[in-house]
Amino acid sequence: MTALLVAGWLATSLLCACVSSNCGGDSGPVPVPLLLTSYVETCQLKKARCLSKVTLPSMYGDGIKTALPESLARLESHAGYLTTNKTLKNHLFFWHFASQNTNAPLLLWLNGGPAVSSMLGLFWEHGPLEIDPEKYGTGNFGPHNYSWVGPFSVVYVDNPVGTGYSFSESNDAGYRLTQDEYTDDLYQFVIQFLELFPEYQERGVYLGGQSYAGKYVPALGHRIHMEKPAGTSIGQIGRCGALRSPLTAGVTLKGVILGGPYYDPETESVAFFDYLYSMGVISHFDMKRHKAKVKEMYFHFTKGIDVETKFSTLFTDLVLLNEIPLPSLDNYVTGQEANYKAVGAVMKTQRMRKAVHVGENQRFFESNDELSELYGPDVLVSTKNKMAVLMDHYNVMIYNGDYDIVVSSVMIEAALLTTPWIGQALYNTSRRQIWKNQQNIKGFYTQTKNFCRVIVHGAGHQTPHDKPAECLEMVTAFLERGCVHNTAPEN
Ligand SMILES: *[C@@H]1O[C@H](CO)[C@@H](O)[C@H](O)[C@H]1NC(C)=O
Ligand SMILES: *[C@@H]1O[C@H](CO)[C@@H](O)[C@H](O)[C@H]1NC(C)=O
Ligand SMILES: *[C@@H]1O[C@H](CO)[C@@H](O)[C@H](O)[C@H]1NC(C)=O
Repeated sequence: MTALLVAGWLATSLLCACVSSNCGGDSGPVPVPLLLTSYVETCQLKKARCLSKVTLPSMYGDGIKTALPESLARLESHAGYLTTNKTLKNHLFFWHFASQNTNAPLLLWLNGGPAVSSMLGLFWEHGPLEIDPEKYGTGNFGPHNYSWVGPFSVVYVDNPVGTGYSFSESNDAGYRLTQDEYTDDLYQFVIQFLELFPEYQERGVYLGGQSYAGKYVPALGHRIHMEKPAGTSIGQIGRCGALRSPLTAGVTLKGVILGGPYYDPETESVAFFDYLYSMGVISHFDMKRHKAKVKEMYFHFTKGIDVETKFSTLFTDLVLLNEIPLPSLDNYVTGQEANYKAVGAVMKTQRMRKAVHVGENQRFFESNDELSELYGPDVLVSTKNKMAVLMDHYNVMIYNGDYDIVVSSVMIEAALLTTPWIGQALYNTSRRQIWKNQQNIKGFYTQTKNFCRVIVHGAGHQTPHDKPAECLEMVTAFLERGCVHNTAPEN
């Protein structure tokens, strides 16, 4: 095993024994964003990979420069932009981390919001780098012991444009506010990314995300699924002869991993109040009252009334933001919130900008509140039918932390009961299993056909942040065996 890993590491380092200052003529890092599409289109794949290679900036302990730990020094990663719409000049920023396991499939990861940077997933949830201002200081990072980069290679994508480092040269006119629009951009991204890293066409592709990515991921997965039989735009992949077999059959989608996904507003938004009621936060009377109000909101929406409502107005009503001083929407018990500011602080330093090739002046939005406001009309749109198609054809896992308020486990159960996939009747009558070792309950799960449902005990909305070891075990088990399982016999 170790020998294999070492061999893999050597092979990759020899393949790209280059620094960005020596990628065939180009001199040094330039102060503008690294746009890779023209290289991909002209099959200059080696050059694009070379230019996008990341040399991690030094770490600083107590303001003093320290050497990168061995695990980080060996990390192979690439960052830059792919142009997803040439008319609008929309550019999506990505940061790709290669697993040292040379068979690892790709996981494309999207955070939600809408308009929350996927660098939150990287630094706060499951990337190989972690931020913890108390431990490493603000603007700094350290190694993360429970990264999903291992079982997977992961590409973190800032989506939609206007989020994180992703941008449009058309400014507001480039915004992608509807499901079709953001799916267009994401689909173009996937096609170009696989052209650039064709090894993942052979190893397989997983789509993952959390929260509002319950919109992005099923919509993107469905697009990939539908393009398969036609093989139309897919004909592009493999054009550069970088693949062993031409991929007219489409993207090799293997599965979907979603954490607390907001994918069916009609059922989920009503069930939001069941969680608060079960925790004793609201009375029976209030539960009924709030549910009736949300149902009315939804009814209006379907009749075309109030469809232009701002995101914040809807959100405030849907989660009682002004009415109840909840300790945190992210984790009801610990009260901890995701530290967006710390993500911004680490991404905005000049040394990080240089490392990830975004240029000197590109603005970084860890969470773009002005942009998210514009998603009001998209909030109540469901991806349930698309999710059902994915559940019929691929391995799908949906997990929740049981202390998550914002998208609680009861919300997901409500959605699942009405998601029209082939396993619905079976899931309806399924039982939960306890996921545990001898000492502790790690959570609960149900496996129905190719669908794996997991509740991670003690975690909130930022599930992998709260329970890193359990979540790494969970995704590894999903990859290897379809769902979590108990290693020790139950007693
Ligand atoms: C991470 O791993 C290192 C090396 O094995 C160890 O020293 C450190 O305590 C671990 N950190 C955590 C938070 O588990
Ligand atoms: C680019 O955006 C324009 C305007 O929204 C749209 O008409 C066109 O189809 C998009 N192109 C792609 C490749 O998605
Ligand atoms: C599953 O249960 C839900 C809720 O009771 C119900 O609406 C749905 O028809 C059931 N589906 C099947 C296939 O039995």
